[in-house]
Amino acid sequence: MAVQISPSILAADFARLAEETRAVHGADWLHVDVMDGHFVPNLTIGLPVVKALLKSTDIPVDCHLMIDDPDRWAIEYAEAGAYNVTVHVEAAAEPFKLAKNLRAAGARAGLSIKPDTPLEPYLELLTHFDTLLVMSVEPGFGGQEFIPEVLDKVRTARRLVDSGELRVLIEIDGGINAETIEQAAEAGVDCFVAGSAVYGAADPAEAIERLRRTAERS
Ligand code: DX5
Ligand code: ZN
Repeated sequence: MAVQISPSILAADFARLAEETRAVHGADWLHVDVMDGHFVPNLTIGLPVVKALLKSTDIPVDCHLMIDDPDRWAIEYAEAGAYNVTVHVEAAAEPFKLAKNLRAAGARAGLSIKPDTPLEPYLELLTHFDTLLVMSVEPGFGGQEFIPEVLDKVRTARRLVDSGELRVLIEIDGGINAETIEQAAEAGVDCFVAGSAVYGAADPAEAIERLRRTAERS
């Protein structure tokens, strides 16, 4: 599987979002962090901004919903045209039903786990999802330090995907930069979210290609 890079617009200039999506041409997905101030202490953007973004870019939009009650809200992001909609297992009441509805609305269904959430209890559930998003920082803020311990979960998922028991794309989110991407790639990540490492660079598109090359070499 080719390495994929999903730049997070959390680190972009929110007053110039359309331009900021153009600055990351070459990205595989565009990662959009939706935070509600309840599931996580921070508050970002919601459906109206995601709809506007969908109109302004051809890059497949990867919605990461850090919200309470995704059972109620996630479907609208899928119906709006998001390519991948990820919900948190810690927040979803009926994740199986949610995955089914997201797929029926034409989106990939993603399941995310926080750094302290174990993977094992959800392996059966994951057979109904397309993406596993392993958080490598506590969700809520960009620019935090990578937590290497979560890579054990990546290794477990990689083994199960390689043996055919799981079919998920393995995505990692938080603290990914030129150094940490190597360990994450070695552990078996397919898709790398990067906020500060991309938008903090002088040339975000070039930063994406540099991250991609590093991951491919690892
Ligand atoms: C954190 C978000 C991340 C964040 C990553 O809760 O889910 O997507 O934007 O930012 P960096 O790459 O700066 O850690
Ligand atoms: Zn995210």
